[in-house]
Parts: sequence; structure tokens; C-alpha cells
Amino acid sequence: MATSNESRRGFLKGLLATASAGLVAMIAYPVLRFISPPSVPEAATSQVLAGTVQELEGSGWKIFAFGSAPGILIRLDSGEYKAFSALCTHLDCTVQYRPEERRFWCPCHNGFFDFNGINVAGPPPKPLTAFVVNVQDNDIFVSRS
Ligand code: FES
Repeated sequence: MATSNESRRGFLKGLLATASAGLVAMIAYPVLRFISPPSVPEAATSQVLAGTVQELEGSGWKIFAFGSAPGILIRLDSGEYKAFSALCTHLDCTVQYRPEERRFWCPCHNGFFDFNGINVAGPPPKPLTAFVVNVQDNDIFVSRS
């Protein structure tokens, strides 16, 4: 039979264990939420105004925002426009365009893509994702399909 002291000690141990578990949960939960944030679905951006004809007359290329990701728009010597996802297919660095070489270059690991977005040198395992370009007057629109 448990004495009054043993019963009180058991109660206090249980109370202390419950309070400790609550304290650990109060600390651990925000830390775990910070470490693995909930997945937020990306807004389905299907078309964006990527730039204007005048903008591309200078450098011949520009980076634009396609939803939350970067896209890259280029103007070829022929006057044709092309657009791709600017995320390198190796480790998602942002590629740049080198008009004099007519190639995209990824500065992270020296990866190269030709002006059609095809991976031609370095570690990128596959081509850049191509977008559809539509020119309306002075505006250049880019869409996924
Ligand atoms: S991230 Fe582009 S080559 Fe590695």
C-alpha cells in the first residue's frame, strides 16, 4: 500500500514529467516548423509580360520573373525571340545569355546551353525548359504553352 508521501511524490513526478513534455513541445514545434515549412503551392502563372521590343534592342536579352521563378528572354540576330526558364537544370542556378557566343552560361559550374536551350557542355543533365513567345505591338508575352 502506498503511503501519503509516496503518493504525493508520484503525483509530483507526473506533474513534472507533464510540464517537461509541454516545455519540450513548446520549443520543438516552432523549430520543426521553421526547419520544414509547409509547402505553398505556386500560383499558376501561365503568361507574363516579359519585356518590350525596345528593351531587347540593347543587350539582346533579359531576365524576367515568371511567377516566383526567373525566366530568360533573348532576341536572336534574325529578330526571333526565344524564352526559357532561367533555372539551370543542374542545381537551379540562374543562367545568363552570352550573345557573342549565342549560348546560355551557368556561372555556378560552368554549364552551357545553346540558343535553343539544349545542354551542350558542363554538368547540366537536360535542356532548359522552353516557353512560348508572343509579340503584340511593342510587348513581348511569354507563356508556358
Ligand atoms: S547549377 Fe548550373 S552548372 Fe551547376
